[in-house]
Amino acid sequence: MKFVLALIAVFVVAAIIRKIVRHKTLTPLLPRQYNFGKRRDTLREVLRLLEERSAKVLVETGVARMGLEKSKGDGASTIVFGQWSRQNDAHLYSVDIDPEAIAKAGEAVAAMGLGENVTLVTSDSVDYLEEFTDSVDFLYLDSYDYHKTDTAIQQASQLHHLKEIEAIEGCLHDGTVILIDDCDLPNGGKGKLVIERLSAKDWKVHMSQYQVILLRDAG
Ligand SMILES: C[S@@+](CC[C@H](N)C(=O)[O-])C[C@H]1O[C@@H](n2cnc3c(N)ncnc32)[C@H](O)[C@@H]1O
Repeated sequence: MKFVLALIAVFVVAAIIRKIVRHKTLTPLLPRQYNFGKRRDTLREVLRLLEERSAKVLVETGVARMGLEKSKGDGASTIVFGQWSRQNDAHLYSVDIDPEAIAKAGEAVAAMGLGENVTLVTSDSVDYLEEFTDSVDFLYLDSYDYHKTDTAIQQASQLHHLKEIEAIEGCLHDGTVILIDDCDLPNGGKGKLVIERLSAKDWKVHMSQYQVILLRDAG
């Protein structure tokens, strides 16, 4: 009996430790309860780079439809970069083609008090980026949804992200930080064509996990 109880205790402790280790937070930027999972380490590195480079103009494609609610599943990017912008006197421009996604993100942005540091735009991202004129310090690409098995959707998503980078390339500078989501997926994920294009120029992969960070300098 004692042996069984000891075994149960070991399993319970192991489960608790496993849960703690897998709970990846972005404290102190956001409360401990939010788990950023497979994106946490790349997000943390991006935030470090943005601080080091005194980033002021942040641009993302694909809003956080669920605010912080889907921090683990989707990344909660608009809240992460909006909160960072508020704390660092910067501004986040976030574009999404879906008015409902923009409306929901708007509610989350307002609830967090980020309204002054976040501009939400309803538009096709390529159209929006083509018209963008400011120098971009940080670019996050996470729009057209990828699919794990449908190769037609995979190619359409990769092509769309390639068009995004082509549209905004003239606004990037030597210190720009680029982050691409959903890369560690079958057939190269959202970033495949973007990374190929940028690597053929003078960009280098700085960190490659589920998300990929690219820098132009040695970084
Ligand atoms: C994966 S979600 C973005 C997740 C978000 N970055 C987060 O962290 O929660 C992808 C978003 O891209 C948007 N999208 C799809 N095609 C688009 C396009 N052509 N232009 C702009 N946004 C697009 C979708 O409406 C969706 O809201």
